[in-house]
Amino acid sequence: MIIRQERKEDFETIDRIHDSAFGHDWESRLIRALREEEGYDPALSLVAEEGGKVVGHILFSRVTVESPVSSVPALILAPLAVFEEYRGLKAGTMLVSEGIRIAKERGEKLMLVYGHRFYERFGFTLAHEKGIFRPNPVKGEVVRILELEENAAHGVMGVIKYPVSFRPLIEEWYN
Ligand SMILES: CC(C)(COP(=O)(O)OP(=O)(O)OC[C@H]1O[C@@H](n2cnc3c(N)ncnc32)[C@H](O)[C@@H]1OP(=O)(O)O)[C@@H](O)C(=O)NCCC(=O)NCCS
Repeated sequence: MIIRQERKEDFETIDRIHDSAFGHDWESRLIRALREEEGYDPALSLVAEEGGKVVGHILFSRVTVESPVSSVPALILAPLAVFEEYRGLKAGTMLVSEGIRIAKERGEKLMLVYGHRFYERFGFTLAHEKGIFRPNPVKGEVVRILELEENAAHGVMGVIKYPVSFRPLIEEWYN
């Protein structure tokens, strides 16, 4: 299994990975919209390749945690998916681990994710326990946080602010 940066020729496969995993195209539309946004960083869009075939994808985007007195940058992990027939082979783990490694190397301090218990193995904990909240409740999903530096979340409180491309997906989540 190789983890590498996305390339243009991967884009259609990346769409199919997310559309099949989530059963709708909200995530692939989000990824395509984010690619057009200023500040999009392809180094934070990674694929897992097995035997020459792209089988998984992960994207990290820049968000901020906003309060009346501060705006703290963080990365949000979204979306992550692996083709069903390739699950359980550690592609998901390798994609998250490599994303965390790159983020640390770049001096990023905080990583957020909306998601299930899969993320606990990397050290993600519940963000609301640190005073970091999503802008609206989402059924069945919680925000988790990973400190990429010791105590990086200390004193950070507020609500997550997303790039504009997230708006349609967030609206779908809230409905
Ligand atoms: C989550 C996902 C990316 C994991 O990919 P993967 O390549 O199979 O991951 P790995 O092989 O590294 O790890 C598999 C582990 O993830 C766990 N896992 C998968 N889905 C899970 C879920 N919904 N909740 C908790 N754990 C989950 C498996 O039980 C397995 O656990 P184990 O290592 O203890 O046996 C993949 O299952 C997937 O694409 N799911 C659908 C999309 C999705 O849920 N994405 C995440 C959105 S937050």
